[in-house]
Amino acid sequence: MLGARIDDVDLSQPLDDVAFDAVEQALHDHCFVVLPGQTLSAAQFVAFAKRWGRPEPHVIDRFHHPEDPNILILSNVHRDGQPIGLVDAGTYFHTDYSYLDIPARCTILYTIQMPPSGAGTTFANQRQAYADLPAATKKRIDGLVVRHHYGNRDDLDESSRTVASVLTDSEKQKVDWVRHPLVRRHPHTGVPCLYAVSGSSFEIEGMDVASGRALLDELKSHATQPRYCHTNPYGIADVIVWDNVQLLHAAPLTDLSQARTMWRITVTEAAATL
Ligand SMILES: [Fe+2]
Repeated sequence: MLGARIDDVDLSQPLDDVAFDAVEQALHDHCFVVLPGQTLSAAQFVAFAKRWGRPEPHVIDRFHHPEDPNILILSNVHRDGQPIGLVDAGTYFHTDYSYLDIPARCTILYTIQMPPSGAGTTFANQRQAYADLPAATKKRIDGLVVRHHYGNRDDLDESSRTVASVLTDSEKQKVDWVRHPLVRRHPHTGVPCLYAVSGSSFEIEGMDVASGRALLDELKSHATQPRYCHTNPYGIADVIVWDNVQLLHAAPLTDLSQARTMWRITVTEAAATL
């Protein structure tokens, strides 16, 4: 059920509404969509992203694409001794922009250079994880509100590769505590999903910190079981769109000796969650 591959779509050309609607439906049904064989300029990639909503440049502004800041360059390549992109981005289960009032609707990657292994993102299905919860648990958690902050609650060591990408002091000034429901109705389908039970979720309103953390940890253990997970290997010239409401995701820890470069755009939802 997780993931759909759609061949014969050329994203360098504007998609008509029928073609876009088919991709959007596939995203809602299958949670991520792979569109292989693309050759895109920065402007063409941004134009496709804007079909989904408003792109939001990443808080880390050191690796924005020179032609368009909506594109974040992810890369382990160095040029003249300097990294050309962000090396590690979210190697723990999380969902994008859950540390913002208006979180991400979808994230879109375009693969430029990939190692032969094609190690890809691991996705965890939060729609199914919620559906499988016992009725008593659903009753207990429906209506709870979670406090989020930029970071990985399981790893705050800035020297680790599994910490959230480290912010500069000025970037840290741009992020603050935000609130989201623990169970979210998908804005486009209405289907309930566990939301961001791993990553930026640190506390639950109305519970002491330790009890809230314990509940989040319990839900994370449930929601990231192998039966909910699927790892998508990447080819070169793939475009991947994933749904940040229905999925958690974790990037692979890559081999730093093998070049890997991708462009990423994150598109926000239309409104805050609360
Ligand atoms: Fe991410």
